[in-house]
Amino acid sequence: MTHHGLFISFEGIDGAGKSTHIAGLAEAFRAEGRSVTLTREPGGTALAEQLRGLVLEQAMDPLTEALLIFAARRDHLLRVIAPALLRGDVVLCDRFTDATFAYQGAGRGFDVQVLATLERWVQSDEGLLGDPAGNQPMKPEVDSVIEPHLTVWFDLPPETAALRLADARLPDRFESQPLAFFSRVAEGYAQRQRGHPERFARIDAAQPRERVWQAVRQVFVEKGWLQAAPLP
Ligand code: TMP
Repeated sequence: MTHHGLFISFEGIDGAGKSTHIAGLAEAFRAEGRSVTLTREPGGTALAEQLRGLVLEQAMDPLTEALLIFAARRDHLLRVIAPALLRGDVVLCDRFTDATFAYQGAGRGFDVQVLATLERWVQSDEGLLGDPAGNQPMKPEVDSVIEPHLTVWFDLPPETAALRLADARLPDRFESQPLAFFSRVAEGYAQRQRGHPERFARIDAAQPRERVWQAVRQVFVEKGWLQAAPLP
């Protein structure tokens, strides 16, 4: 990718506790003068948020579910993620395509070959990284797939996540799934990490929150994307 932005996704089973760390990173990047686009999937645009509502609340078959999630992703990439990367923003995205492989693929048992095909179609940068007027793409290597530069994976045993979720708000269609579903999703994430070891940073999310934060921050410091915290 020839743009100057940074695309970072955050993953993990429900209850893994990503949100506060994503907010902390946004603050840390802004404190260093970077422009941050904070977004989420499914969602991030008016249309994609509507699709999110359907996916989280309505019963539907697995293909419909996967198609709606990828439709939301296309709109999100087109309207928010690609323009932000072209501007040079740091894009912090709460979940992205690894979630589809973990939840729809491993969790629901949906055909991962079909997911991989949808991924190529939807994330093809042809038409995504062109100039805003929709003229010629600004980059020569069209047809590559837009994916995160880094995926921070909050790894937590499903049993621990279930305990954390027990006190949570009214569960949606995913949060209300049984433990066995989340065990498959967790394994789905582990498989994704094995397939993309260079892109994934695994964080032990069972540690106390402050330790998790230190571990997350350290990943960004080691990449040279954030400065090391000053000594107290
Ligand atoms: P959130 O509660 O972390 O915002 O995520 C919404 C739910 O949507 C969560 O249970 C995971 C699920 N999901 C999928 O099943 N597939 C996907 O591709 C994405 C992005 C989320």
